[in-house]
Amino acid sequence: MNRNELCWCGSGKKYKHCHLAFDARLDEIRFDFFKGQVRPPHKIINNAEDIEAIRRAGVVNGGALDRVAEMIGPGVDTATLDRAADDYITSHGGVSACLDYEGYPKSVCISINDVVCHGIPSPDTILREGDIVNVDITTILDGYFADASRMFMIGEVSPAARRLVELTKECMELGIAAAGPWRWLGDIGDACGSHAKKNGYSVVTALGGHGVGKAFHLEPFVPHVGKPGTGMLLVPGMVLTVEPMINEGTHKVTTDPVDGWTVRTKDHRLSAQWEKTILITETGTEVLAS
Ligand code: MF3
Ligand code: CO
Ligand code: CO
Repeated sequence: MNRNELCWCGSGKKYKHCHLAFDARLDEIRFDFFKGQVRPPHKIINNAEDIEAIRRAGVVNGGALDRVAEMIGPGVDTATLDRAADDYITSHGGVSACLDYEGYPKSVCISINDVVCHGIPSPDTILREGDIVNVDITTILDGYFADASRMFMIGEVSPAARRLVELTKECMELGIAAAGPWRWLGDIGDACGSHAKKNGYSVVTALGGHGVGKAFHLEPFVPHVGKPGTGMLLVPGMVLTVEPMINEGTHKVTTDPVDGWTVRTKDHRLSAQWEKTILITETGTEVLAS
């Protein structure tokens, strides 16, 4: 690309004033194929306008999770929470990304106890004291996606359940702390996964995080286990989710053959998950949705 052409990132600036130095730095890096090191493609680099739009989607998404937090408790059915979240999103100018996504029938995912993810809200699913519950919401605002989930403990939960919920949050935070510009995707997985395994838990590997922003699921797939210094290089402008699913027992999962969505632990022991959308900045990371 010519120095005086408009930059490929869509900023409207000349290349020489935008990503020229960035590309020069990338060109200096020798990607070791045998370590699984991958060069990030231009198409997953967001410009300042894209980032601002994802940030705005993240604010609405966080508001929807806050709304759920106000209502959740024993005796509440999950369809009521789904409606409340959807109403919040639409009344703030957004749309749920999950509704009709590959045929998904509801606006949010609500996953209880041994349900790992993609639990479908239903008026017949009533939360009970002792449940641990993940609520996962993705908002589209002005064409941009932001994705986050939180755990909720219903009333008094067992010490083991509480520990799993807390440890899973630590895994997410350690994964995010390991991310940053010119680090590697494998650094995130290593930080998440080692913390879980050291504490006697298993990490779901069949599902993972993902690039997000201009679409729901973009490159790269984000594993929650890994080796430092491997995988895709993390560079400023990348937006991705860190969303570890951590199990008490086996890491193996099964998908409900009837509804085609609900993912459960194979041994029916507990699973927990937390998710944030993060931006790789020039100096570290910024949380865009939580
Ligand atoms: N929000 C989930 C994720 O973190 C995806 C849910 S897809 C759905 O990637 F269709 F089940 F809603
Ligand atoms: Co999500
Ligand atoms: Co996600």
